[in-house]
Amino acid sequence: MKMKSNPTALYVHIPFCKQICSYCDFAKVIYQTNFVNDYFESLFFELENLNNNKYDTIYIGGGTPSCLDNKLLVSLLEKLQKMLNKNYEFSIESNVEDINEIFLETIKKYGVNRLSIGIQTFNKAFISLCNRKHSKEQAINNVKLASKYIENINVDMIYGFPFQLLDDVKEDLEIVSSLPIKHISYYSLIIEENTVFYQRFKNLEEDNKLQAKMYKYIYSYLKKQGFNRYEISNFAKTNYKCKHNLVYWHNMHYDAVGLNASGYVGDIRFTNTRNLTLYNNKQYQKEIIKLTKEDKMFEEIMLYLRLDEGLNLDRFYKKYNVNFIERYNKIIKELEDKKLIKITKNKLKTTFKGSLLLNQVLISFMN
Ligand SMILES: C[S@@+](CC[C@H](N)C(=O)[O-])C[C@H]1O[C@@H](n2cnc3c(N)ncnc32)[C@H](O)[C@@H]1O
Ligand code: SF4
Repeated sequence: MKMKSNPTALYVHIPFCKQICSYCDFAKVIYQTNFVNDYFESLFFELENLNNNKYDTIYIGGGTPSCLDNKLLVSLLEKLQKMLNKNYEFSIESNVEDINEIFLETIKKYGVNRLSIGIQTFNKAFISLCNRKHSKEQAINNVKLASKYIENINVDMIYGFPFQLLDDVKEDLEIVSSLPIKHISYYSLIIEENTVFYQRFKNLEEDNKLQAKMYKYIYSYLKKQGFNRYEISNFAKTNYKCKHNLVYWHNMHYDAVGLNASGYVGDIRFTNTRNLTLYNNKQYQKEIIKLTKEDKMFEEIMLYLRLDEGLNLDRFYKKYNVNFIERYNKIIKELEDKKLIKITKNKLKTTFKGSLLLNQVLISFMN
């Protein structure tokens, strides 16, 4: 089967933030007007030079796109709106404190139909530990306000903060699931190098048992509230899976523009420079990786095993001309014996236990 190579999705990175969170290692810098203006010039140049000019989904992520000055935001939205096909999904990320009527009216006017709000936690102590600036009340009120403008809202949450207890997660869950939203991304905290958290907590021993307990609780609590898991960290009400992110997880092609943005087109995965000065000088310095058939097969397995729908083995055969069960016979047997994966109706899926130990499953396939 020949894969359609024209990308259907576009990611746009806005790397500016009003404050830097203690856990975050994404490509971002503190908002400074002169940097932002130069950035926009480079970003628009990249946009104008894309091979494709129409997409089914566009995702503006960051950094913090919501902290842009309204004029710049309008110029970006106006440009991107013209690049959408019919029946599109157009998402933007925002921080709680940037949500107000002007922002919401603006994004709605230019066709944004999915809003992702970063909350992480409603707990005062953990908000402060993260160096975030919202309060619990502000988060609740601003989500409610946003829901008057945009129906399809996602909230980003994190669990597993240092010293966090299961009861703290329970409190966050009660609040988040009562909000007028359709989707929750619930990430396990990763202590990344080059972050304040790494400096402070690198020697703290991870409590894997507690993390697993928290994840199990999140999974079943959200399920009861009608948010069904479809990807390891993503939970949605019926019909509200994120179409843009599914393009990544379905190993399909997508374009990407902006600082450190990564795309996948044809056989090539590319990543722009992470250096803002270079980027602003239009020296995008794309790092280019040409994927072999083996790379593509592994990526396909790795991505689909994140999803509850699992990997379709007929499709795998058509795409790579490889009989999955024959090829990975030994690994499949080992993982089945450990009850980490199961094959039903020609679909390979992780068990719940396997989803908790996903890295172990993936490493087996990698070897
Ligand atoms: C990079 S932020 C961009 C959106 C927006 N600025 C915000 O903070 O919500 C996207 C999401 O990534 C997640 N994230 C970032 N760093 C993380 C980490 N070290 N561990 C787990 N989740 C992380 C957070 O949930 C965050 O909302
Ligand atoms: S989590 Fe969001 S707001 Fe915080 S530093 Fe990262 S990109 Fe900026």
